[in-house]
Amino acid sequence: MASFNTMAGCFLASALFAMVLGKVSNALVNPHHLEKPAIAVAAGASEAAAAPAAAAELPPIGPKLKDANVEKGKAIYVQQCYTCHTIDKGGANKVGPNQWDIVGRKKASHEGFSYSSALQAKGGEWTFEDLNHMIFKPQGFVKGTKMAFAGLPKEQDRADLIAYLRTMNDNPPPLP
Ligand code: HEC
Repeated sequence: MASFNTMAGCFLASALFAMVLGKVSNALVNPHHLEKPAIAVAAGASEAAAAPAAAAELPPIGPKLKDANVEKGKAIYVQQCYTCHTIDKGGANKVGPNQWDIVGRKKASHEGFSYSSALQAKGGEWTFEDLNHMIFKPQGFVKGTKMAFAGLPKEQDRADLIAYLRTMNDNPPPLP
């Protein structure tokens, strides 16, 4: 009887050992199996995330303007735009044209500024959505523009900035 118990104990112990061994070897082997596919999936996902931006499929900025922060927009303007633009009424043209009344203003129409032919050919007025595209990526919206600015990738920054531009106007146009 005693020897049967010992044998049974031995059997159980070795079965357990085999199970543990199986788990350990799985853990050791699986990461190697997973390594490549996991990286491929991650790369695919980030490409997919970048795709809408590349295709200029920007979501409309209009709905974001109501809750945008005009004060923050002003700070962004001073930081990012003021080197090349003034925005006070009757302000001078610098590297770029003065921007008083920019929302609703006809494109490439500010007196005394020599615009690129690319921007002159664009046509229409500066709507909220056109400004959104221009500020997101000037070269993407007006290919050949002489506005040498990389763009603001963050939607919230663009919403704050455009909300500020709207206020710098004799008659601020209604929010969409
Ligand atoms: C490095 C200088 C530079 C910076 C920085 C810059 N701009 Fe410009 N911007 C220009 C130039 C130059 C033009 C004229 C573009 C052309 O003629 O193609 C222009 C034109 C524009 C126009 C069209 C104006 C019109 O009368 O049709 C808008 C709108 C504009 N900029 C907005 C901005 C905003 C907003 C910022 C800050 C986020 C900014 N720009 C930053 C140089 C700059």
